[in-house]
Amino acid sequence: MSKESKEIKRVTTHSLFAMKERGEKISMLTAYDYSLGKIIDNSGIEVILVGDSASNVMAGHETTLPITLDEMIYHASAVVKAARRALIVVDIPFGSYQGNSNEALKSAIRIMKKSGAHAVKMEGGEEILESVARILSAGVPVMGHLGLTPQSIYKFGTYTVRAREENEARKLVKDSQLLEKSGCFALVLEKIPAKLAAKVSQTLKIPVIGIGAGPHTDGQVLVMHDMLGINKDFNPRFLRRYADLNSVITDAIRNYIDDIKSGSFPNDKESY
Ligand code: KIV
Repeated sequence: MSKESKEIKRVTTHSLFAMKERGEKISMLTAYDYSLGKIIDNSGIEVILVGDSASNVMAGHETTLPITLDEMIYHASAVVKAARRALIVVDIPFGSYQGNSNEALKSAIRIMKKSGAHAVKMEGGEEILESVARILSAGVPVMGHLGLTPQSIYKFGTYTVRAREENEARKLVKDSQLLEKSGCFALVLEKIPAKLAAKVSQTLKIPVIGIGAGPHTDGQVLVMHDMLGINKDFNPRFLRRYADLNSVITDAIRNYIDDIKSGSFPNDKESY
């Protein structure tokens, strides 16, 4: 074993818990393929989420609903091959667990066996507790996801901020406690008021990772294509863009086209 590979220590659900206890923020980002998964892992991210946002950014669907279990496994397998340090969490897609704990268990086991990922993520609270319990009993770590849960978009009707109303906020707090009690190792809170996310993060012992949930959660997650500026059509208030790869890639491809048209590519040095 080389010195370099000896030194890389895999992030685990336990190390995330310890980070929360130390007050150290957790970084999480989505990835869907080998090449970008490798760059993201080498950058030092703690958690890579193979999100069902692949349905939007990779497959071009309008929602996360169409992506299948096999497609999620395809993306997850590629990321697993790339990442040597990050904990890899995979979304169980819509239609592979809702309302049927048997199916939920089968889906989770299939993801773990076929992709080699380390954990699964599921959307929902009280209504998925039976499935969460069965998956956990098989030894598969589960990350919860509350607030805006895109697999239920047709129930919500819009992608606006969730849990502004007292009733919904109360249910979210209760659901977060139930998920922690059932054994989830972490929780994603999406697009909810910062104050509510702060309250949940302070109440729970497990790490809470926010997206559009303000600065007081134990960590943050973004969709890679959004934060790198590959996708320019999505501009929610919570999104910070760290690059404008859309322009970088467009300029590079335009230069390539120009060089072909002018005959300057390939030159003598680029020929045999
Ligand atoms: O699918 C996804 O990318 C997600 C994040 C938005 C948390 O669930």
